[in-house]
Amino acid sequence: MRLRCISCKAEYEPDPWLFRCPRCGGLLDVVHDKVDPTPSQGQGVWRYHKALPRVRRRISLGEGGTPLIRLSSTRHERVYLKFEGANPTGSFKDRGMAVAVSIALDAGARAVLAASTGNTSASAAAYAARAGLRSIIVLPRGRVAKGKLFQAMLHGAKIVEVEGSFDEALKAVMSYIEEEKGLVYPVNSFNQWRLEGQKTLAYEVAGELGDAPDYVIVPVGNAGNISAIWKGFKDLYRAGVTSRLPVMIGVQARGASPLATMAERGLNEPAWFDKPETIATAIRIGRPINWQRALEAVRESGGTFIAVSDQDILEAQKTLARREGIGVEPASAAPYAGLTKLRQKLPEDATIVLVATGHSLKDPGIGVETEIYHAPTTEDAVKLIKDIASKS
Ligand code: F0G
Repeated sequence: MRLRCISCKAEYEPDPWLFRCPRCGGLLDVVHDKVDPTPSQGQGVWRYHKALPRVRRRISLGEGGTPLIRLSSTRHERVYLKFEGANPTGSFKDRGMAVAVSIALDAGARAVLAASTGNTSASAAAYAARAGLRSIIVLPRGRVAKGKLFQAMLHGAKIVEVEGSFDEALKAVMSYIEEEKGLVYPVNSFNQWRLEGQKTLAYEVAGELGDAPDYVIVPVGNAGNISAIWKGFKDLYRAGVTSRLPVMIGVQARGASPLATMAERGLNEPAWFDKPETIATAIRIGRPINWQRALEAVRESGGTFIAVSDQDILEAQKTLARREGIGVEPASAAPYAGLTKLRQKLPEDATIVLVATGHSLKDPGIGVETEIYHAPTTEDAVKLIKDIASKS
């Protein structure tokens, strides 16, 4: 196992504290000479320990093994949703955090540190607690969904609020780690070890479908997850477990769409958003740090980035909830909205996997309409039930 710079390709010995290439400043990938992506005994993502870094103590809350649910409300016949909301803290972050927090322990850190739009903070705080470490979280003030903030607080995180968006919060983390190393371990998705944990989603999907799907549609914020999932599919293909590679499609919210805008305009670099805005707060990110990794995933796989509107996201969230019974947070409904947008372009018989990254309870602040009746007495309630029953 080695670390390789994603820009200049220089290689380094594995080092838990190395996140940028000393030569050119590029982010680093974990490269394996040979990887075995098949499951064996173990808890959570550590079932795939043969494809993960070796650690002294494997931290886990039983993450992964999430349901792959076939959808019936789409135009395409074979659409599956990977429900990452079923992870221990309600999002896909747990896969990565199991690995990153285990590495933090090995590295002798006393606390973990993360900037977050919310889910990373919930996951980092929980896994740190599990490992006996403290957690320090940097959040954009007033911009984090209630459920996520509650989780971070419940698990005992110390919270630093900054003005602006997630991008400012991440800047604070990056500046801190330039100045001090050894005490506090950063677990944002620039951390290549965390992405190793997240690639296990691909292993599970291929294991269940019997091969890689034709398309994988992923919501994109800081752009780590789409890169990790692509890496997982490449591992499987190289190991001869699958016969093909999927096309990766990244979906962003229109008001925070640096990569989709780049794709639409045919640019070579993201069109940065200084003031990202969307109701999908999880992906309200204007400067995705992993943009190069994600761009490589999309280019290598023959995919693309697309943007969807907030209205389309809310519509998709409602359809998933009311026609499929699946409750996801807004960012996690973006792939469904993306599929609706792309439906004419994807072959009818394609196998498509939507990655639904987080649970609906994460963000109870989103307004939903339904009919609520008031019944002061039991008789009123019975009468109302009869009325409603007769109409349904
Ligand atoms: N979906 C959800 C629910 C998320 O919380 C995130 C990222 C993403 C998608 C995008 O994943 O960043 O790997 O492209 N949330 C981070 C956080 C930024 O702080 O919780 P990505």
